[in-house]
Amino acid sequence: MTGSFIIEPLGPSHGRTEFMCGVDALDRYFREQAGQDVRRRATACFVAREIATDRIAGFYTLAAGGVLLAQMPLRLAKRLPRYPTLPVARLGRLAVALAYRGRKLGGALLWDAIERAGRSDVAVYALVVDAKDEQAESFYLHHGFVAFGEPSRAFILPLPKKT
Ligand SMILES: CC(C)(COP(=O)(O)OP(=O)(O)OC[C@H]1O[C@@H](n2cnc3c(N)ncnc32)[C@H](O)[C@@H]1OP(=O)(O)O)[C@@H](O)C(=O)NCCC(=O)NCCS
Repeated sequence: MTGSFIIEPLGPSHGRTEFMCGVDALDRYFREQAGQDVRRRATACFVAREIATDRIAGFYTLAAGGVLLAQMPLRLAKRLPRYPTLPVARLGRLAVALAYRGRKLGGALLWDAIERAGRSDVAVYALVVDAKDEQAESFYLHHGFVAFGEPSRAFILPLPKKT
């Protein structure tokens, strides 16, 4: 829970048609495609629901993925086992509705994804994202992600080591 919001898996009771984050592709994806992708296990999707109104204030998607060890920044690669690929969780999309911007919801959704990936029983080394533009890039850099691999705009955030 985040203030007056709760972050939960996307379900049939969530109203998606009014979601508007100002990026057409993300709005269209959330309204028209996200539910189907979840049902087909192509991705998981989590939403921030405003408790007082039931409105969806933001969402993110998360799916299993892999990255090549050879693409890792050297300082990370040095500390990793020599397997050709590393298991990661891929943050496919992340958006906050225009009406809810600047209230730390984007950060809360990102933190929720990090925690969720870290709690998984399936091994996840890091959270990975392909930033869609420079603004998204600066958002992920601000939150400690580092650029890696080709094409550029791929960013990685290693999860804390297990104790
Ligand atoms: C990027 C986005 C999710 C941020 O959501 P938000 O709720 O307005 O952001 P927050 O209020 O949670 O900001 C959290 C922190 O990130 C910083 N931040 C927000 N947007 C940023 C940006 N583009 N670049 C750098 N820092 C940014 C804030 O200053 C804040 O910093 P602080 O915690 O040190 O004070 C939102 O602007 C959005 O949905 N944009 C359109 C879709 C998009 O670009 N998605 C990301 C990639 S797919």
